[in-house]
Amino acid sequence: MRIAFIAGNWKLNKTRPEARALVEALKPLVANAKAEVAVCPPFTALETVGALLTGSNIRLGAQNCCHEPSGAFTGEVSPPMLKDLGCDYCIVGHSERRQYFGETDEGVNKKAKALLAAGIKPILCVGETLAQREANETEKVVERQVCGAYAGLSAADALQTVVAYEPVWAIGTGRNATPQQAQDAHKFIRGLLAKLYDQATAGAVRIQYGGSMKPSNAAELLSQPDVDGGLIGGASLKAEDFAGIVNAAP
Ligand code: PGA
Repeated sequence: MRIAFIAGNWKLNKTRPEARALVEALKPLVANAKAEVAVCPPFTALETVGALLTGSNIRLGAQNCCHEPSGAFTGEVSPPMLKDLGCDYCIVGHSERRQYFGETDEGVNKKAKALLAAGIKPILCVGETLAQREANETEKVVERQVCGAYAGLSAADALQTVVAYEPVWAIGTGRNATPQQAQDAHKFIRGLLAKLYDQATAGAVRIQYGGSMKPSNAAELLSQPDVDGGLIGGASLKAEDFAGIVNAAP
């Protein structure tokens, strides 16, 4: 059985006082959650938020990392540094990083390996643009991204990962994928994992949906058989909205 996993991607939001207020409001609202819960604040708030999460049921994640553990990489933050701050998870290959910061499938793969080496679970993001969906290229694009992300990873490695299917056209647009569209893509991704590894591994990896998930559409999306949680952007910035999604998880 896969336990639903709901993670909040705060993106480029929240100073430390704002982060503190959000986490303090969130903790009691999700204290009895059946789902696993994580928040992914910006680097600058990780230590503050991590300290507040000690002893709670909310895990800490980062939004990005360097592919190297240390060295001459000005401006970067490495997986061992994130581990030191208490991160259990790190988002990798978010579409905004692919779009604005030139992240490639090869780069995503290197970051995944660096995170696994540091004992952090990568949340590997994949998803097609609107143009790609309209050109019937969704499966081709997602297959390239999934195979790229998992290149050289063992089945044991794969069991430490989470996939986030995030159709780019649904991110921050208010236009979520329909539950059927999400289910179709998730089933396809699970099939890819079965081909890369085996049925047991594919059946154990959690696949989150991301893209305009909110309290009003969460239950229906999360009830799909291959939708194992959500990666939440906008709605993770308000405690009540994020908790509404967390508590909608089966
Ligand atoms: P959204 O973002 O929930 O604001 O659409 C999701 C994401 O980018 O992870």
